[in-house]
Amino acid sequence: MQILLETKPYASFETEALVTPVFEGDDPIQGRAAELDQLTCGLLKKLATTGELTGKTLEFTLIHAPAGLKAARLLLVGAGKRDQFNVATLRKVAGAALRSLKAKGLKTFAFVAGGTLPPEHGSQAIVEGLLNADFETDKYKTEKKDKRIETVALIGFPENALADIQKGIARGKVLADAQNFTRDLVNEPSNKLTPRILAEKAGAMAKESGLAIDVLDEKRIADLKMGALLSVAQGSSEPPRVIVVTYTPGNAKADAPVIGLVGKAVTFDTGGISIKPADGMEKMKYDMAGGATMLGAIRAIAALRPNVKVICVVPATENMPGGRAQKPGDIQTAMSGKTIEVLNTDAEGRLILADAITYAKQLGVTRIVDAATLTGAIVVALANINVGVFSNDQPWTDKLLASAKATGEKMWQLPMDDEYRELIKGSFADLQNIGSGKGGGSITGAWFIREFAGDTPWIHLDIAGTAWNDDAKPWLAKGPTGVGLRTLVHLVQNL
Ligand code: BES
Ligand code: ZN
Ligand code: ZN
Repeated sequence: MQILLETKPYASFETEALVTPVFEGDDPIQGRAAELDQLTCGLLKKLATTGELTGKTLEFTLIHAPAGLKAARLLLVGAGKRDQFNVATLRKVAGAALRSLKAKGLKTFAFVAGGTLPPEHGSQAIVEGLLNADFETDKYKTEKKDKRIETVALIGFPENALADIQKGIARGKVLADAQNFTRDLVNEPSNKLTPRILAEKAGAMAKESGLAIDVLDEKRIADLKMGALLSVAQGSSEPPRVIVVTYTPGNAKADAPVIGLVGKAVTFDTGGISIKPADGMEKMKYDMAGGATMLGAIRAIAALRPNVKVICVVPATENMPGGRAQKPGDIQTAMSGKTIEVLNTDAEGRLILADAITYAKQLGVTRIVDAATLTGAIVVALANINVGVFSNDQPWTDKLLASAKATGEKMWQLPMDDEYRELIKGSFADLQNIGSGKGGGSITGAWFIREFAGDTPWIHLDIAGTAWNDDAKPWLAKGPTGVGLRTLVHLVQNL
């Protein structure tokens, strides 16, 4: 799909459809809507009077052969209250418009700018919304839908801001492409994406992006004594990998932080000997979403070239039952030297992150963010709405939460009181990999990882509830979301 910036007046622009957001309020016919109302001889006012046009979020009003316009159709998309309008809504409006027009078999349309966002942010959000919405998960269908949007023109932007808009478009493209790269990885079934294949795909991405990559195989992993990662991997005949991708800027300051992006990549989580129920187990192919998010983030970072060094560490393994699998009660020694009683082999994400974080610190990272589909409990706490945020450092967290807000990704910080730490103290080893007692499963999981971050400022993102959409949304296909990536890239760019 091509996205073009068009400077012709939109009224005389020939296209299959003109799309624009309209806002909710006592009088929805203001700004761009008022302009369109005039051009169409009062059509919008008429629709507003009959209650057919209210501006409510994602309300669609499609008008064929609108008088006064050269476009074959006018699609008005509700964008909610004008004063609550933000990049997240604009993304959804653009995305939902694309998916609805694509379903109708249109090949081109023009998106008319509207609302009060700065042009650079607005154009970026539109491009992100369009490209993310265009992503389909039909890779393995032999009969693909032939419906395809070929070009979208962005039109009606202020003439004096074209340079900013071009910047926004370019940035939006980088971010959406990276997010779709992540989503494509997450969508791969486990027979098509083993740890070795993930490492190969990371290698191709690194080469294309001019990033350095080092892939640790099972021998180097053993030499490094990554006992926690190996304990998970030992149940599978697929060997584990640790994928390390490094972005080095041209001229970072000597005292600049080195950011570690650590992502859980369990390419399939059966639970191991503490096996999961069959119902819904197929979804556990997305248990590598944290790793895929970090690989996508560093791909975008390579294109945007911020002045900060970033090291991405992705521990990749399957979690399988089998003759060699670890068993509940087994005691493992992590790379850091800490011993772990594995009370539940299904709490494997924290085990592999423990060693990945220890290794990231050895590589010199001074601040860490990890992302992981860590716990089902995060869905109990936050449903499929917010990413769970856990940390040992509030200033670092405040930066991340500010980036989440700026990019419109919903994230919510949960408590990490010392009392929770008591729940993961082991009876026969230093730590146990699940909390004693009931409740707080996401927090005890985070505390386990924190034990390995130590004093290094660290944030853990639990994306188990948000990395996968069980149902298609008007603006996004069913399946992988790519959540977190935009926040992480914004965070690194704004350090
Ligand atoms: N990969 C799962 C978490 C998960 C659950 C991700 C649902 C996506 C959707 C993780 O490895 C796991 O199994 N966690 C256990 C931890 C428990 C044994 C303490 C869980 O959440 O049940
Ligand atoms: Zn598990
Ligand atoms: Zn898991």
